[in-house]
Amino acid sequence: MDLAGKIAFITGGGGGIGAGIGAALVEKGMRVVLSDIDLDRARKEAEALGQAARAIAIDVTDEQSWAKAKAEVEAELGPVDVLCNNAGIATAPLLLDETPPSLFARIMAINVTGVFNGIRAFAPDMKARGQGHIVNTSSLNGLLAHGTFGAYSASKFAVTGMTDALRQELAPFGVGVSTLYPGLTRSYMSMSEDSAALMADVPEEVRQAQMMDPLWLGRAVARAIENNSEHIITHPSARPEVERRQQVLLSAFGEPAQPEYAG
Ligand SMILES: NC(=O)c1ccc[n+]([C@@H]2O[C@H](COP(=O)([O-])OP(=O)(O)OC[C@H]3O[C@@H](n4cnc5c(N)ncnc54)[C@H](O)[C@@H]3O)[C@@H](O)[C@H]2O)c1
Repeated sequence: MDLAGKIAFITGGGGGIGAGIGAALVEKGMRVVLSDIDLDRARKEAEALGQAARAIAIDVTDEQSWAKAKAEVEAELGPVDVLCNNAGIATAPLLLDETPPSLFARIMAINVTGVFNGIRAFAPDMKARGQGHIVNTSSLNGLLAHGTFGAYSASKFAVTGMTDALRQELAPFGVGVSTLYPGLTRSYMSMSEDSAALMADVPEEVRQAQMMDPLWLGRAVARAIENNSEHIITHPSARPEVERRQQVLLSAFGEPAQPEYAG
């Protein structure tokens, strides 16, 4: 898709990665809507981007909030060409059997249902127009699960699966879909005490040095939208771990469990 002059709607636009995607899409000549539950954060990021950006409030868990934001944006800017379902939360390190159900439900509501709500809000119009692109932010944790980060990993594996399915569903309509799998990137989330606790064995200065600049991550997203790339991997250092997981998985493919099974 040629991005110049098009409209993007980004959730979690007041945070590190959402704002970085916004900045990169503005570089490409797009107008961007930075939406966030924290409107002050989104306004600050939009102001930094100038005339091409505007901020709007949204709670991605709430369908009515999506409908209101969509109506407002369309009235002002016209139809949305690119949707980035990016808002998400993480938690402090927690064993699954010690994770409060209310916290598990909240993670699922924001990280999974939030993405689903975005798809339901914008995909029908994109299908009808025969154009558009949706980027869903998963995580390297949507490819590789880590103990004490189980609820977050579950939510991100859900985003990975939902996005793979969505790509198949929207391709016949000429609508592109990509999954973004960030690794450590500078943001409110990654700068939090919870994130530091997850990497307690890594010296703080090393952890800081490992954080990617969200603008560069955003530029990778912009290229992926232009090329309709299926997967956006921004942190190649995770490759050996992903390969190891795939090898273990493939090695479990042997004879069928039922003798002479023909399926
Ligand atoms: N930063 C990283 O290292 C990293 C790595 C992998 C994946 N991610 C993913 O990237 C995405 C962006 O996270 P980030 O790192 O920029 O964090 P961030 O905390 O800086 O940004 C997330 C934004 O989402 C907003 N948000 C939270 N709940 C919301 C809701 N209900 N409705 C609307 N907005 C809401 C927050 O206010 C915040 O501004 C998340 O999905 C996260 O899981 C981040």
